[in-house]
Amino acid sequence: MMMGKSSLLASFLSLLLLLSSCVVGENPYKFFTWNVTSGDIWPLGVKQQGILINGQFPGPLIDAVTNDNIIINVYNSLPEPFLISWNGIQQRRNSWEDGVYGTNCPIPPGGNFTYVMQMKDQIGSYFYFPSLAFHKAAGGFGGIRILSRPLIPVPFRPPADDYTLLIGDWFKANHTDLRYLLDSGRDLPFPDGLLINGRGQYGNTFTVEQGKTYRFRISNVGLATALNVRIQGHTMLLVEVEGSHTLQNTYSSFDLHLGQSCSFLVTADQPPMDYLIAVSTRFTSTVLSTTAVFRYSNSGGKSAGPPPGGPTIEIDWSLNQARSIRWNLTASGPRPNPQGSYHYGLVNTTRTIRLANSAPVINGKQRYAVNSVSFIPADTPLKVADFYNIQGVFTLGSIQDNPTYGPGYLQTSVMVSNMRDYVEIIFENGEDTVQSWHIDGYSFWVVGLDGGQWTPASRDGYNLRDAVARCTVQVYPKSWSAIYMPLDNVGMWNIRSENWARQYLGQQFYLRVYSPANSWRDENPIPRNALLCGRASGRRTRPL
Ligand SMILES: *[C@@H]1O[C@H](CO)[C@@H](O)[C@H](O)[C@H]1NC(C)=O
Ligand SMILES: *[C@@H]1O[C@H](CO)[C@@H](O)[C@H](O)[C@H]1NC(C)=O
Ligand SMILES: *[C@@H]1O[C@H](CO)[C@@H](O)[C@H](O)[C@H]1NC(C)=O
Ligand SMILES: *[C@@H]1O[C@H](CO)[C@@H](O)[C@H](O)[C@H]1NC(C)=O
Ligand SMILES: *[C@@H]1O[C@H](CO)[C@@H](O)[C@H](O)[C@H]1NC(C)=O
Repeated sequence: MMMGKSSLLASFLSLLLLLSSCVVGENPYKFFTWNVTSGDIWPLGVKQQGILINGQFPGPLIDAVTNDNIIINVYNSLPEPFLISWNGIQQRRNSWEDGVYGTNCPIPPGGNFTYVMQMKDQIGSYFYFPSLAFHKAAGGFGGIRILSRPLIPVPFRPPADDYTLLIGDWFKANHTDLRYLLDSGRDLPFPDGLLINGRGQYGNTFTVEQGKTYRFRISNVGLATALNVRIQGHTMLLVEVEGSHTLQNTYSSFDLHLGQSCSFLVTADQPPMDYLIAVSTRFTSTVLSTTAVFRYSNSGGKSAGPPPGGPTIEIDWSLNQARSIRWNLTASGPRPNPQGSYHYGLVNTTRTIRLANSAPVINGKQRYAVNSVSFIPADTPLKVADFYNIQGVFTLGSIQDNPTYGPGYLQTSVMVSNMRDYVEIIFENGEDTVQSWHIDGYSFWVVGLDGGQWTPASRDGYNLRDAVARCTVQVYPKSWSAIYMPLDNVGMWNIRSENWARQYLGQQFYLRVYSPANSWRDENPIPRNALLCGRASGRRTRPL
C-alpha cells in the first residue's frame, strides 16, 4: 500500500516521538547514601531518642529538578524494620518505590534498600517521612524540592534564596510509648509543643537582605494538628501548592493542614530588624505556638511587640482561605491531564466515590475507619501479593464506594479501579474534628469544600475552572471536600488520613489502579532489588 505524504510525515513524527521518549534515560541521576540511626535530640529541651538520617534531624533536603532520577540507598541501622515514603512524589507507573507497607517489604534492621525514583513531570514542594510503626513521631523526615527545568518559565523572578520550613507538633513521649497507647486502645495526648526544622522556640534564624525576595517552602510534617503560619510585619505571597503554581494572592497568615506543603515569596521590605515567624495550632482549645527569627542582615535589633497572633477556632475563615487558593491558568508547570484535554472541568467523571470517616470502638479499642472499614495491615505487602498472585492476603472490593454508616469492622481494605477512569471523590466528615486526606501516586483537583452534608446538588457549586491540583486536602468538621482525579497511574496506592493516630488505627485503605493490558508501558515490572517478605519470601524478583 502506498503511503500518502501526510501519513509518511505522521510516521516520521511518531518515530521522532518514540526516539525522544527513549532518551528519558538521559535525565540526570543523583545518588544518595543514607544511614538511618537513632540518636539523642533535644527538640523541646528534653533529651529524646530521635531518628536521624546521616546524623541529621530533620533529614537532608532532596534538591531535585523535574525528571531527575533520584537513587537513594537507605541503610537501616535502627533495631526495628524501617521504610521511608515520599509525600507527593507520584512514582509514575512505579508504586514499587512508594515506601509504604502496602507496597514495600520493610528494610530489616541492619539491611539496606535502594529506592530508584524519577521526579517525572513534577515541580514543587514535598517531604519524605518514615512510614512504619509511628516512627514519624521520632523524626526521620525531611524536605523535597523539585525545581523547574532551566528553560521552563516560572511565574515569578528567581528568589534570592529558597528556605525549607518543616513545621509540626511534637510529643515528649517517644514513638514506642505513643504506639503503646494506641495499641492499647487509647488516644494520643495533646502534643507538648511545636517544632520548626526540628527545633523549638527561637531555634532557627533565617537571614534576609533588605529589598530582596525569598521563597519559603513550608510543610506540615506533624502528627495531630493543623497549623497557622505568619511573619511579623510582612505579607506572604502564595506561589505554589504541592506542585501547582497558584494565583499569587497575598496572605497575612496561612493555614497548613497535616501533610500539606506550599511556597510563599516574602520580600524584606520593612525597616531592618529581627522579626518573628510564628506558627500556632488551629482548631484546638489549647493553643500551642512557636517562633523562628526572620533577621535582616543589617538588623537594628528586635522588632517591638509580641509575636503576631493568628486565628484559633475560626472555621469559616479557614474555609474561605482554602477557596481563595486557585490555579494560575496561564502559568507553566506540569499538571494532571484527564483524557488529554487539560480541561479537568469539561470532562465527565466516570465514577463517584464517597468516603466517610468515623471513630468506631472495635473489640473494646478506639479505632478509626472509612466507610466503616478500619484498615489492618496484611502479612505481605499488597502490591507484592498482587504481583505474585498470592491469594488470601487481601480481597478486592473490600471497601464500598459509599458510606454504609454501619458498625465499624477490621479489614485489609482494597478498592479496585480501572486505569483511565476519571473519578469524583467526596470526603465526608460527620465528626467534629478537622480531617486531612492524602492520596499517594496522584495529584487531584480540589473542586469543592463546604459545610454540611454533600448531596448531588452540591456539584452546582464546584469550581470547574481554576481549582488547584494537589495531593492532600483538608475536610472541615461536619463538612465535605470534593476532588476530581484521573486514574492515569497504574499501581497500588495508599489513601490515608494524615492525622497519624487515625492513619495508624485504620483510617486508610489502598486503591488498586489496574490496566488490563498488563504491559510495561502502563506499569514498571517489580524492581530487581525488591525486598521480599511474608508469603512472598524466597520468590524471585525477575522470574525466568
Ligand atoms: C551507620 O551509622 C552507625 C552509627 O554511626 C555506624 O555504626 C554504621 O557503620 C553506619 N552504617 C553505614 C552503612 O554507614
Ligand atoms: C545495598 O547496598 C549495596 C551497596 O552498598 C547494593 O549493592 C545493594 O544493591 C543494596 N541492596 C538493595 C536491596 O538495594
Ligand atoms: C500567572 O502566571 C503568569 C505567567 O507566568 C504571570 O505573569 C502572572 O502574574 C500570574 N498571575 C497571577 C494572578 O498570579
Ligand atoms: C521510650 O521510652 C521508654 C520509657 O518511657 C523506654 O522504656 C523506651 O526504651 C524508649 N524507647 C525508645 C525507642 O527510645
Ligand atoms: C457529559 O455528559 C453530558 C450528560 O450526560 C453530555 O451531554 C455531555 O456531552 C458529556 N460531555 C462530554 C465532554 O463527554
